[in-house]
Amino acid sequence: MRRWRRDSVFVVCFEGVVVKRMEVRFTAAQEEEIGAIVGRYSERSAALIPVLFVAQEAFGTLSPEVLALVAQRLELPLVQVLSVVQFYEMFHSQPVGRHHVQVCQSISCALLGSGRLVAHLEKKLGVRVGETRPDGAFSLSRVECLASCGTAPVMRINDVYHENMASPEAIDAVIDPLMEAAADRKSE
Ligand code: FES
Repeated sequence: MRRWRRDSVFVVCFEGVVVKRMEVRFTAAQEEEIGAIVGRYSERSAALIPVLFVAQEAFGTLSPEVLALVAQRLELPLVQVLSVVQFYEMFHSQPVGRHHVQVCQSISCALLGSGRLVAHLEKKLGVRVGETRPDGAFSLSRVECLASCGTAPVMRINDVYHENMASPEAIDAVIDPLMEAAADRKSE
C-alpha cells in the first residue's frame, strides 16, 4: 500500500485501486471497540465482518473512503474488504433511508408471493426498488435469501425480521406505524 497526502485529502493506493480518502476516521471509542474485536481473533481477516458493522454504524454507509479506512485499520487488501461488502446483503455502499425495507426474492419467498409484496410496498412507500424516499425515511430493496425460508415470505427492516408476510395487510401492520412516525417527524 502506498499513501501520500495532498492538502487535507489522503490518496490511498491499494493493489492498483486508487481511492481518494477524505478525512474519515474512527473516534477513540470506536477505535477501542475495534481493538477489542481484533483482539478476539488470531487472524485480522476474521475481524473484518464485525469491524465493517462498526464502520457502517459509525458512518451510515460503507463509502470507498470508509472501506479504505477499514482496510488500512486491519491491514487487509482493499479488494478483500470490497468483496466482503459486495457479497453480504447487510452491508450497503450507498446511503439508505432510516428504515431500510428489504424483501427476500429467493425461491421460498418468491413462491409465496414476495413479488406481489414488493409491488405493494412500491405503491405504499412511493419508491421503486433500489430507491430512497426524498424525505430519507424509507429505502426499498430486494435481497437474496434471508435464511428464514421456513417463515417465508420474509421482510427485514434494518436488523429486524418480519416473517410470514403473506398479505398486503401483514405488510401494512408493520409499515403503517413507521409511516405515521415519519409523518410526525416531518411535521415537527
Ligand atoms: S428464500 Fe426467503 S428467506 Fe430464504
